[in-house]
Amino acid sequence: MHEQTPATPADAPSAQGPTLFDWEFATDPYPAYAWLREHAPVHRTRLPSGVEAWLVTRYADARQALADQRLSKNPAHHAEPAHAKGKTGIPGERKAELMTHLLNIDPPDHTRLRRLVSKAFTPRRVAEFTPRVQELTDHLIDGFAERGEADLIHEFAFPLPIYAICEMLGVPREDQDDFRDWAGMMIRHGGGPRGGVARSVKQMRTYLGELIHRKRDDPGNDLISDLIRASDHGDHLTEAEATAMAFILLFAGFETTVNLIGNGVHSLFMNPGQRARLQTSLAAGERGLLETGVEELLRYDGPVELATWRFATEPLTLAGQRVAAGDPVLVVLAAADRDPARFAEPDTLDLARTDNQHLGYGHGIHYCLGAPLARLEGQTALATLLTRLPDLELAVPAEELRWRGGLIMRGLRTLPVRFTPR
Ligand code: HEM
Repeated sequence: MHEQTPATPADAPSAQGPTLFDWEFATDPYPAYAWLREHAPVHRTRLPSGVEAWLVTRYADARQALADQRLSKNPAHHAEPAHAKGKTGIPGERKAELMTHLLNIDPPDHTRLRRLVSKAFTPRRVAEFTPRVQELTDHLIDGFAERGEADLIHEFAFPLPIYAICEMLGVPREDQDDFRDWAGMMIRHGGGPRGGVARSVKQMRTYLGELIHRKRDDPGNDLISDLIRASDHGDHLTEAEATAMAFILLFAGFETTVNLIGNGVHSLFMNPGQRARLQTSLAAGERGLLETGVEELLRYDGPVELATWRFATEPLTLAGQRVAAGDPVLVVLAAADRDPARFAEPDTLDLARTDNQHLGYGHGIHYCLGAPLARLEGQTALATLLTRLPDLELAVPAEELRWRGGLIMRGLRTLPVRFTPR
């Protein structure tokens, strides 16, 4: 078992180390992360699922671990049988046909799939999508603008990424509400009862499989058709691989973006001076502060608290700590991105921050494939909200907000707001 540096009561939540994964931690994990960074930067802990894992919390170590090829993404490397029984909460981990997705594989398989998907999911395709994201954003705001109040999570942050990625993939409009419902089930019960979630995953997978089959005969100007067409030296995605790819694009791009918007608006509410600066700059037709600002919001309170699972393929040493082969390693992006050794005044939100190589999108070969789309959605959502509803404010005391206690993701359950009706 890992030995922690003894801590003084003055600087520690407790001499044993902070309590992780309880209600208080879900609300504000940053004091616990500060303690870990200082006293136990590679810290073995028991997760709520019962699985034991190492948490890596310093920026330099986190960045190194994310790029370390000895840390595999393939759950087959996990020593603990609990994982094989599907207790980790990794969605779809027991579904062999979805196991081939990017976040569960290593080179050379990862290199091959990432190369093929990158030919279809290009920054250019995302750039061409800009006007449509603006339309979707405006349409959602139209839905509540006259009411003077809304729950920004359910009425805005949640549907926007689902509709956006559905449209980009080529899911017909009339079927997009099904995705909304399936995704809703996954987000509501992500860490809870699995029956409904398993059914939703299955329905989504079946639907995507059929859609891919149809698009093979009748391609269109959409991402799924491009995924089917994509080729690299004569190599193509199989239908099963294209299905897994479409699924991971939906899955990886959905709750993350919901929380980028939700956490982002929340951080702006909590930092009125920064928010005012952003509104002034938007009113002047500038985009610079919006662009650095969305990156800063990702660093300051990003949606991905922990990078997805990694497993040691051999015994190794991380920041002086011995890690056995088969041990799971969780890189805590949210802790690394507040490391004072890397960021000046890390607990301060500074939308104009430029030296901001945060790890919110990960690092290395698994670096977020959807970052250009996430940036587009995040920037469009925040700019449009603040411009169309300039006096937007929290409708409940901040202490009443509830955070989802998930493991990988950090986000609000609801975000009630009010504003002058438009
Ligand atoms: C990977 C964050 C939005 C698709 C990742 C990783 C992070 C991340 C941290 C790396 C995980 C790891 O190394 O364990 C985010 C954040 C987003 C976002 C913060 C929103 C603000 C999106 C969107 C899409 C997407 C919109 C696609 C539509 C992916 C995919 C991967 C990935 C496919 C796996 C890449 C690989 O393994 O090669 N994302 N993501 N993400 N993301 Fe995102």
